[in-house]
Amino acid sequence: MLIENNIYLGVTTNRLINKVAVVTGGARGIGGATAKLMAENGAHVVIADVLDDLGTNLANSINGRYVHCDVSVESDVEAAIQLAVTWKGKIDILFNNAGIGGTYLPFSRLIFTILLSINTMLLKSTYVGFKIDQEPNQLIVLGSFLADVGGSICSVEMKNVAKLIGVNVNGVVHGIKHAARAMILAGNGGSIISSSSTAAIMGGLGSHAYTLSKEAILGVSRSSACELGIYGIRVNCVLPHGVLSEMLVDAYRGFKNDVTVEEVQQKVSENASLLKGRCGSVEDVAEAVLFLASDKAGFITGHNLVIDGGYTSSSIGMTFIYRDKISKSELS
Ligand SMILES: NC(=O)c1ccc[n+]([C@@H]2O[C@H](COP(=O)([O-])OP(=O)(O)OC[C@H]3O[C@@H](n4cnc5c(N)ncnc54)[C@H](O)[C@@H]3O)[C@@H](O)[C@H]2O)c1
Repeated sequence: MLIENNIYLGVTTNRLINKVAVVTGGARGIGGATAKLMAENGAHVVIADVLDDLGTNLANSINGRYVHCDVSVESDVEAAIQLAVTWKGKIDILFNNAGIGGTYLPFSRLIFTILLSINTMLLKSTYVGFKIDQEPNQLIVLGSFLADVGGSICSVEMKNVAKLIGVNVNGVVHGIKHAARAMILAGNGGSIISSSSTAAIMGGLGSHAYTLSKEAILGVSRSSACELGIYGIRVNCVLPHGVLSEMLVDAYRGFKNDVTVEEVQQKVSENASLLKGRCGSVEDVAEAVLFLASDKAGFITGHNLVIDGGYTSSSIGMTFIYRDKISKSELS
C-alpha cells in the first residue's frame, strides 16, 4: 500500500519512491513511526525487531516485511539485510535504531527478578529478561536485553554494561557492516542512519553505560562515513532527546513506578526543552530520519542531527536573564 499523503504535514511527499529500507527496532516507538513514514513516502520497509507480534502487525499494515532480529546477534542482522535484498533486490536505507536503556535500581531489580521467575515457569524459555507491554495481557519477551545499568559509576556492574553494549553498540556496528557490504556490492550508494542520543553529547541524561554506548555510535558512524563516502554511502546519526516512548516512560518508572505518560510528558516539556509545553514525539524523529534517508540530504554525511527542542544548545536554568527585556507592548 502506498499512502501518498504525508499525515504530519498534510502535503503529498514521495521522497523514498522505490527505495528499500531496513528499520531495526521498528516494531514500535521511534522505529515504528519511522517505518510508517518511510512507507508513506514510497519505501519498501523491512522491520527487524524482537517484538514479533507488534512488528508483524505494523509490517502488514504498511505492506512491508517483518523479521525477528536480535541486533546483538550478527547473523540476525545479516539475515535482515539479506531479506531486503532477496525481497526487492537491494537495500538503499538502513535505520539502525534498536536500542535499550537498561533498567534502574532498586525497583526494577525486584520486578526483573519476579518477571524472570514467571518467565522461566510459564515460557520455559532460555531468555533471561522480558517486559510487559502496555497492551493488556501481552507478555512480550525481550530476550536478554534488560541490563541493570543504573546507579553510581562506583558500583557499575560490568557484565550488565557489556549486555547493553551488545545491543546498543554491537547492534549498530553489525548494521553498518552488513548494510555497507550489500550497498557496495550493488553500487548505488545508500544512506545509513543510527539512533544515538543527546546523552552522547551531554552528561546527566542517562546511565553511564547508556551514555558511553550512545557516544560510541557517533564515533563509528563518523569513521564509517569517512570510509564509505567513496561508494556514495552516507552515514549519519540522529540524537533524539526526551521523546515520549515506552523507553522514556520505563526510565521514569524506574524511579517512580506509578508515573503516568502525561506526567512524563509534562516533566520533559517543563524541564528538558526550550519549546514551552512541547516535548519530543516519535514523529519528530521520524521526520528527521526521513530527511537524512532521502536524496534531499544528498550532500550530508558524517552529521549528527540533534532533535532536542534546543535543550543541549542552552542552559535552560539561565533563560531568566532574557525575561522582561522586551514586553509585548514594545513589540506591538
Ligand atoms: N525516547 C527517547 O527519548 C530517546 C532519546 C534518545 C535516543 N533514543 C534512542 O532511540 C531508539 C529508539 O528508542 P524508543 O524511544 O523508540 O524506544 P522503544 O523502547 O519504544 O523502542 C525500541 C525498539 O527497539 C527494539 N529492540 C530492543 N532491543 C532490541 C534488540 N536487541 N534487537 C532488535 N530490536 C530491539 C524494541 O523491541 C523496540 O521495538 C533507541 O536506540 C534509543 O536509545 C530514544
